[in-house]
Amino acid sequence: MKTFTLPGTDLVVPNVVLGLMRIQEKTDDEVRELVSVARDSGINFLDHADVYGSALHGCERRFAEALRLTPADRAELIIQTKCGIVPSGPYFDFSYEHILSSVDASLAALETDYIDILLLHRPDALVEPEEVARAFDELSAAGKVRAFGVSNQTPGQIELLKRHVTQPLVANQLQLSITHASLVAQGVASNMADLDQSISRDNGIVDYCRLNDITIQAWSPFQAGFFTGVFLGNPDYPELNAVIDRLAAAYDVPPIAIATAWITRHPAQMQVVLGTTSPSRVQGAALGSDIPLTRAEWYELFRAAGHAVP
Ligand SMILES: NC(=O)c1ccc[n+]([C@@H]2O[C@H](COP(=O)([O-])OP(=O)(O)OC[C@H]3O[C@@H](n4cnc5c(N)ncnc54)[C@H](OP(=O)(O)O)[C@@H]3O)[C@@H](O)[C@H]2O)c1
Repeated sequence: MKTFTLPGTDLVVPNVVLGLMRIQEKTDDEVRELVSVARDSGINFLDHADVYGSALHGCERRFAEALRLTPADRAELIIQTKCGIVPSGPYFDFSYEHILSSVDASLAALETDYIDILLLHRPDALVEPEEVARAFDELSAAGKVRAFGVSNQTPGQIELLKRHVTQPLVANQLQLSITHASLVAQGVASNMADLDQSISRDNGIVDYCRLNDITIQAWSPFQAGFFTGVFLGNPDYPELNAVIDRLAAAYDVPPIAIATAWITRHPAQMQVVLGTTSPSRVQGAALGSDIPLTRAEWYELFRAAGHAVP
């Protein structure tokens, strides 16, 4: 497993991490096996959110109940969670009160004293950056949160936060897979008048994150679209799967490793956030951590997913 020091922190992190959004219905044994196999594969970084599960903090609680972490176990893990979504609305809430109360509830559900990284989940149109700064200062001073970041945010939204937030924003979690790749596909086709791909949907977020030492975390790395099912083995993507399968055979890894490597090969040094609850898929994906895809291979996968190289 490839690891690196997460810029803005002293945390050494793997470039493939385990998301726990889908564990609500899993038994204690299943959750324990999932996390144990991930750890054996070099994945000690876990991604949560207050909204994952059938009720608020459901997956955080499921995780804590199943794992019953000792202080020593806890110290070996990097636990990230998120706040800012109010599902009962639905709406988004980056207010001081909401951030603080959500973190306290996450700490209780996770049965831990601290969160390693807290992300603001989805941009709040009514954000007051001064309030976010006050919340972050208080959480940091209390030792409840060690580092902060965002998710699904544009360069302008991050700049706005940075006018008041003094802690480094160390991560931006964004949807990225070979097929759902406008983040990288736009730049390849910039300025092409008749191509949908050239439309900027995120104002150059990949370049912005690279320039500002913000680590991109790719969520839904195998989903074809927005929770539409995976592209791996999907008959709607015959050309892409043919390339994936050929490269998988060449590198002697399962196909999921190639789909992972397409993201880890990007020089922005991204983290891939797995959502599978299958231990063998976690093992397979972990094998994609450090596959040295050539430029020709990376672009072949990109073209086979339907993106233009004009
Ligand atoms: N920041 C955000 O806004 C945001 C949004 C969504 C998710 N996330 C994070 O990102 C993580 C990953 O999201 P995701 O679960 O949508 O991503 P994913 O890893 O692309 O998808 C995993 C889902 O696809 C299923 N699947 C079916 N066939 C598969 C195959 N061949 N290989 C792999 N998976 C297959 C898995 O089922 P099995 O469990 O049966 O394998 C699981 O339900 C989440 O856990 C969460 O931590 C963040």
